[in-house]
Amino acid sequence: MKVKMQPITFAKLDQHCQIPYELLLLADPSKELIDNYLKQSEIFVAKQTNEIIGVIVLFPLSAETVEIKNIAVKPAFQGQGIGRYLIEKVVQVALLNQQKSICIGTANSSIGQLHLYQKLGFEITDIKRNFFTDNYAEAIYENGIQAKDMLVLTKQLIDEQEQ
Ligand code: ACO
Repeated sequence: MKVKMQPITFAKLDQHCQIPYELLLLADPSKELIDNYLKQSEIFVAKQTNEIIGVIVLFPLSAETVEIKNIAVKPAFQGQGIGRYLIEKVVQVALLNQQKSICIGTANSSIGQLHLYQKLGFEITDIKRNFFTDNYAEAIYENGIQAKDMLVLTKQLIDEQEQ
């Protein structure tokens, strides 16, 4: 018997809904930093039958650039294309808002994330040296590598607007 996958929806998080901290903390272990950028950000969620299974946070970096500050997918749903779906959706939001570029920062140790972002057309444009060692109280390790620097990856949107 074939199992039917329930449809996934994408929407801005309703102001009255609880902030999905358990997901946001998967991407960023500092609640203090999260609360800081949430003050100016828009939160979008992917839902399946009313369950929030993914979150993505957009922060206005300048008049022309928006930054994905946080992206996370519930562990049971990872590896099924939902991260890709969330990024493709916020690229559409940025295009609708006439943004010229969209960027995302991730650690030097986040190998899988670097794979995903580059596959979606993001290119490394900056390195913030010692970002993780300077801003987080605890040392962070992933894939046996210490997170020290933040790699900033940017996707230009102008070409897509002209197509
Ligand atoms: N390791 C290896 N490859 C990965 C990883 C990983 N950790 N994550 C994604 N990929 C690859 C997949 O193999 C896939 O590649 P393919 O298209 O060649 O098959 C591609 O990326 C797309 O994968 P998805 O299934 O769309 O990714 P997923 O739904 O798992 O979402 C995410 C990716 C958001 C990173 C998720 O794994 C997650 O929530 N991780 C924990 C939180 C996190 O690290 N967030 C990012 C921090 S940086 C920031 O928030 C700005």
